[in-house]
Amino acid sequence: MTITHISAECYPIAKVGGLADVLGALPKYQNELGVTAQVVMPFYNNKFTKSHNFKPIYNDTIQLDETDYDFRILTLKDNTLGFEVFFVDVPELLYTDFVYTSDDTERFLAFQIAALDWIAQDDTVPDIIHCHDHHTGLIPFMVQESFKYNRLRRIPVAFTIHNAQYQGWFSHDLVGLIPDFKFKHVGLLDWNHVINPLAAAIKCSWIVTTVSPSYMDELKQDANGLESLLSDEHAKCIGILNGIDTEVWNPETDPLIIDNYNQETVEFGKQANKAFLCKEFNLDINKPLFAFIGRLVGQKGADLFPAIFTDALINNDISILLLGSGEKHTENELNILKHKFNTNNYNAFIGYDEKLSHIIYAGADFLLMPSRVEPCGLNQMYALKYGTVPIVNSVGGLKDTVEDIDYGGFGICHNEVSVAEVSHAITRASEFYNSEKFKQTRTEIMSIDHSWHASAQSYLNVYNSLNPFL
Ligand code: ADP
Ligand code: GLC
Repeated sequence: MTITHISAECYPIAKVGGLADVLGALPKYQNELGVTAQVVMPFYNNKFTKSHNFKPIYNDTIQLDETDYDFRILTLKDNTLGFEVFFVDVPELLYTDFVYTSDDTERFLAFQIAALDWIAQDDTVPDIIHCHDHHTGLIPFMVQESFKYNRLRRIPVAFTIHNAQYQGWFSHDLVGLIPDFKFKHVGLLDWNHVINPLAAAIKCSWIVTTVSPSYMDELKQDANGLESLLSDEHAKCIGILNGIDTEVWNPETDPLIIDNYNQETVEFGKQANKAFLCKEFNLDINKPLFAFIGRLVGQKGADLFPAIFTDALINNDISILLLGSGEKHTENELNILKHKFNTNNYNAFIGYDEKLSHIIYAGADFLLMPSRVEPCGLNQMYALKYGTVPIVNSVGGLKDTVEDIDYGGFGICHNEVSVAEVSHAITRASEFYNSEKFKQTRTEIMSIDHSWHASAQSYLNVYNSLNPFL
């Protein structure tokens, strides 16, 4: 069975968030199950593409709105990733410093059309096309409807919703950019009078998955306008929990952390990483360290962080360290907070830093995730693997992976994202830190198995349900 994943992100090539982590791991674990899984992604202008060598395997031209764009398909010369990657190089549109820009409609349309043009002309076509998020949401429609992809029409297309908040909306004025199809089917592209790539993907894919069972349920109540569509299409929708790549995320072998450790050496190991963080960020090592890592956006509850941190720091003897970037207003407020708390109990690194994130998972005592919406969330699973107790709002994948200590579990859960609720959860956590059970819990959580093995197999079962002859 050959599976072609198509995505805007893939770790370690280009990462903004968890989408990249999934695309960097799922194909590798699928390959271990004896299938051939590969990734098609854009060729960006970033650290990875600048430091690796590529080989062109195909050249062609696409036309978008009367303009011709030359493109190439590239592969990596020395690939040690565990799966093949095909890069779509449209220099004029995709070779940008950032994965996402303010002008993504044309960019990702060019990506999707070039990818399909290349796939459709090849001698062998994949058995499954698996698209991820709205940047690839027009592929299921084009495979089904665009005349020039007739050859691909019988290939089952799977689509995974990693985040339904973002849908890629654009005006019907741009419909001419999509390769010709029977115009009476234009309704498949539409949702509320605009072209909605996420909605089109849900309508046209053979199967729709999302990244946790609870998020699948929640989407029927709240999917940023697509609730009724997801309810109508529920028969082809399924939630499959993401896994974590334990070859990358393992405190025993992780080359990015200060000291490696396992369940036997967790106390010393975590202390060494915490000591590094406390020195680097001027924090008191004797206080429990609470951390946040992630995008500073409403989805993650970030707008409330300045108020939550203020309240929590006044009421508890703790330290807080944040690593993140996102909305400018929140970034500024989090920086201002550094001056308010001139004691050594708060610091923030505004930016993106992969290495620092690993050290924080290793060195923190608690990881905060007060997300309003969390389709899966990988951070809480990384935290568990590194013996760091997660504090989560019980939604989506957080609900499916973290159980509260008061109910026989191992994390701190709350059911609302407000200053009072999160601050109360932090107080509960700092009491837990001082209890006898804390050290035992952090040792135990390291052995919870969230590896990709089971989920990679679940995806293969889904593909087989689409074509039992694969
Ligand atoms: P989302 O995809 O919604 O951002 P996930 O929990 O699925 O959330 O995944 C986030 C991923 O991005 C994790 O690997 C996390 O460590 C990483 N990450 C997020 N922000 C940063 C940052 N500022 N620096 C380093 N890593 C980050
Ligand atoms: C999205 C979601 C996150 C999920 C990730 C990978 O970015 O916000 O919850 O873990 O995709 O599926």
